[in-house]
Amino acid sequence: MDTVSIAVAAYIVASLLFILSLAGLSKHETASSGLTYGIVGMGVALLATVALVIDASDEIDDGALTVVLMLGAIGIGAVIGLWRARIVEMTGMPELIALLHSFVGLAAVLIGVNGHLEESYRGGSLDNIHDAEVAIGIFIGAVTFTGSIVANLKLSARIDSKPLMLPGKNAINLGSLGAFVVLTVVYLVLDSDSAGQHVVLAVLTLLALFLGWHLVASIGGGDMPVVVSMLNSYSGWAAAASGFLLSNDLLIVTGALVGSSGAYLSYIMCAAMNRSFLSVIAGGFGLEVAASGDTDYGEHREIMADAAAELLANASSVVITPGYGMAVAHAQYPVAELTAKLRAKGVDVRFGIHPVAGRLPGHMNVLLAEAKVPYDIVLEMEEINDDLSSTDVVLVIGANDTVNPAAEEDPTSPIAGMPVLEVWHARDVIVFKRSMAVGYAGVQNPLFFRENTQMLFGDAKDRVEDIVRALA
Ligand code: TAP
Repeated sequence: MDTVSIAVAAYIVASLLFILSLAGLSKHETASSGLTYGIVGMGVALLATVALVIDASDEIDDGALTVVLMLGAIGIGAVIGLWRARIVEMTGMPELIALLHSFVGLAAVLIGVNGHLEESYRGGSLDNIHDAEVAIGIFIGAVTFTGSIVANLKLSARIDSKPLMLPGKNAINLGSLGAFVVLTVVYLVLDSDSAGQHVVLAVLTLLALFLGWHLVASIGGGDMPVVVSMLNSYSGWAAAASGFLLSNDLLIVTGALVGSSGAYLSYIMCAAMNRSFLSVIAGGFGLEVAASGDTDYGEHREIMADAAAELLANASSVVITPGYGMAVAHAQYPVAELTAKLRAKGVDVRFGIHPVAGRLPGHMNVLLAEAKVPYDIVLEMEEINDDLSSTDVVLVIGANDTVNPAAEEDPTSPIAGMPVLEVWHARDVIVFKRSMAVGYAGVQNPLFFRENTQMLFGDAKDRVEDIVRALA
């Protein structure tokens, strides 16, 4: 068997491992084996690619230099990747992911430009197909590149997360798509390597860079989770387009897996946030509803840790709904300890997880798994919502938007229509946060002023530890 056949076989193995990886990642119990499949699959893919390049290096000028450059790039990439993965905070994941998507986009643009300059295709019967792959690959790559950079800047609060509202933003998006189609046709019709073709490709690239920036800039901060997963999907399609250009089957399969799983995740998140999937793809579906004004909700009540401990010790059912604040405070460990203590006393403790609680899909599940909270008591929002009216005490730990009744009751609220955890139906609600400040969507939460709600102010970790001590 020659190197090419072995590499093709390795690519099929890697594709299967990636599919197993996605399947594993869809459940808590199998998530870590899913990750292992993904790592092994990527290792196999990298080795096969290195072997292919070394094999082909004999036949090209500067073959040795090509191999050295490739190994150098892999080495530098591995060092930067390991370093970033070690230092990134869980809460900084979405912006890091957005940055990584921008690299995929940029790589697709560079591969497209390389394909445009490549002479071996000129004059062949597949000339037009090759040119179409170049135009489409560069377009998707450039949209992903600038879109991901804007998402990174918004998520890291380096630019304002408010939606940009250019007049006629939908017309701009649709017009840009129409212009892309026209430019692609002109690009195909013009002679290869002519000055006109170079200019058309440059204009097409600039247009796509602008469209990526505009699509994401028009979307408000509250809708960013969907945008990040949408960009994930775009980066997959960009990689698949590069796969066609490079005639690399593995890149096509992997790109399609990332593209379709990212699109499906966006769809699930749109359903969770009651947003229209089609309007996300079209971009700029941001906040068009007026933000609710300064409604006076009355006074809030406070509770101290000792009294909260007493309430919990006398309860027979407790539901904990964690949010972004639990992640910031690293409160998952004392929360797990509190859970174990209450369960040992015979209290039925369960968790209710909102699909967009925290700052990335599955954020809360990862933290709770890290703290060894048993999977079977961690339920999804739709599994727990009906049980909340028969629950004695709900602990809202660092969550805000995801438990806001205004989403159901105030049609003028920016989060109107988003399904929420209906914690206010419980007998008693204790909200852990540091102040009366608003959550991510920037809206006040009437839950804090309800008669059955009491606020437990302070850092979530400190307050939960106080309760654990008081329970001893
Ligand atoms: P948020 O609405 O962001 O509220 C978090 C709350 O935690 C804040 O009100 C904050 O109040 C409190 N907090 C912060 N640090 C704390 C600490 N050390 N101790 C105690 N409390 C602390 O959280 P959520 O309910 O999880 O909602 C998530 C929001 O993020 C949604 O709007 C969602 O759309 C958005 N989002 C989600 C994602 C994904 S995919 N999950 C991605 C991006 C954006 P204080 O400042 O008063 O303490």
